Formats: sequence, structure tokens, C-alpha cells
Amino acid sequence: MNGSLWVAGAGIQMVSHVTLQTRGLIRHAQKLLFLVSEPGTAAWLRRLQPGAESLDAFFLPGRSRQESYERMLDHIASRLRDGCRLGVLLYGHPAVFSYLGPEAVRRARAAGCEAEMLPGISAEDCLFADLGAALDFDLSTAGYQCFEATLFLLQHRRPDPLCALILWQIGIVGQYQYELAGPNRAGLQLLAAELLRYYPAGHQVICYEAANFPACPPSIQPMPLHRLPAAKITRLTTLLIPPAAAPPRDGEMAKKLGLPEA
Ligand SMILES: C[S@@+](CC[C@H](N)C(=O)[O-])C[C@H]1O[C@@H](n2cnc3c(N)ncnc32)[C@H](O)[C@@H]1O
Repeated sequence: MNGSLWVAGAGIQMVSHVTLQTRGLIRHAQKLLFLVSEPGTAAWLRRLQPGAESLDAFFLPGRSRQESYERMLDHIASRLRDGCRLGVLLYGHPAVFSYLGPEAVRRARAAGCEAEMLPGISAEDCLFADLGAALDFDLSTAGYQCFEATLFLLQHRRPDPLCALILWQIGIVGQYQYELAGPNRAGLQLLAAELLRYYPAGHQVICYEAANFPACPPSIQPMPLHRLPAAKITRLTTLLIPPAAAPPRDGEMAKKLGLPEA
């Protein structure tokens, strides 16, 4: 294998989130593969690189997403075996809640190819930008945890109600196949029931969806936690749960650090 690979992020918003560095790479790639969340970026990529190929065709309805990703990885490996200078563009950040991006780079390097990853704007970056100034707490000083929703349930992860919680992929909770159907309501019921062990039923949570298109507003749906199972949710929804209480401040530690006690 003597091909080379870069994997980059396309960001969330059509074309405008692609960095200048990534645009340069797209122009010079010998072959471009992509997986993006809206058709505008796909059309733009095909104009820049007429041979650009979407990886969407590798998704198999009714089969596991893992199986589809393995098919994509095989396709990438076979291109590299042909000695191709290959670029792969993935929506968001290519290593944020993405199996494909890091695994493609890992396998290419293991096969002796040069491979690098370039960052992109993730859904979480958009959430910070869209909600940061609207919340009555500061996400970074409150601290936050984040989990993939299905793993949160399967692994019985414990949220810390003194910080914020971000749950990814709530629209496909408990769904391992690639499906284009609506959200899994039974899975959402289980998710809400688990969260209700840690937060009051009336605790306000936010279902968030960053805008995919410039000049469109994001979707921001605040609601009490107990309404979550009935919420309008898509595959692209991310859940933000604000802290349920302010953390205490340790006066003794403040003293040791030479900081005011209050
Ligand atoms: C497989 S992950 C991919 C994340 C992507 N790599 C990134 O950097 O944002 C898919 C999940 O990302 C989140 N996501 C993707 N697009 C989003 C959007 N437009 N607004 C909010 N969350 C989004 C949702 O939680 C969705 O289920």
C-alpha cells in the first residue's frame, strides 16, 4: 500500500463550515469520498471534484450501522491499495462521535500509508455557540459530561446533576440498524425513565438541532424532562440537560489556594 489519506470535517452548516485548509486539500485530492448530512455540500463537492463519491450508498437498511462502516472502511482500504491520494470528508468533526474517521486513519497507518486527520466544527461547537449566551449558567465553568445515548443506558453511566449533561444520538437510542424511520419512542421512554432517577420531572432540558443551512435558525426546544419521550426529535437531535443545582464551594480549599472564601 503506498497511497495516502486525509480525513477532514465538513462542519455542520452547508459548505460554510469547511475550513480553508480542507478546501485546499479537496482541490488537490486524487479521489474524494464524503459523508455529509445535507445535499448542498454534496453538490458543492461534486463541482470541485467531479469524481467525488458519497459513502451513503454503503449504508444498508435493516443491517447494523457497524456493518455499513466496515464496508466503507474496506472501500477506503482498497483505494489506498491502488496507491491513491485519497481524501475523506465527514460531517461535523471527523473524530467526534465518529467511528469511521479515526478507524480509517488507524487502519491506513497500520498498512504503512501516510494518514492525517483535520478538525471540523462539531455539533457540540454549534451548541456552545447557539446556546452559550442563552443559558443561565456557563457550560464550561459548570463543567459538563457527554455520552452517546444508547451507551449511557447500556453502561448505566451516572450523570452528575451538579454539571451539565450532553447526550448524543437520542434520536436513534437503542437502534443499531441503519434506518430512516422516525425516533425510537420506546427507547426515549427508557432514556427519560433513567434520567428521572437523577433529575426532577419538571427539570428543563433542551432538544437542540444546529441549522444545516446558512441564515436558518437552529431548533431549540426547551421542555420539562418528563415530556422528552413525546418531543419532536430527529437523528440529528442532541439533548442538553442543565445542572440541577449549583455545586458547593470548599472554603478550606479556597483558603489553601489563597482565594477568597466566598
Ligand atoms: C454520529 S454523531 C456525529 C457527530 C459529528 N461527528 C459531529 O462532529 O458533530 C451523530 C450525532 O451528532 C449530533 N448531531 C449531528 N448533527 C447535528 C445537528 N445539526 N444539531 C445537533 N446535533 C447534531 C446528534 O446527536 C447526532 O445524533
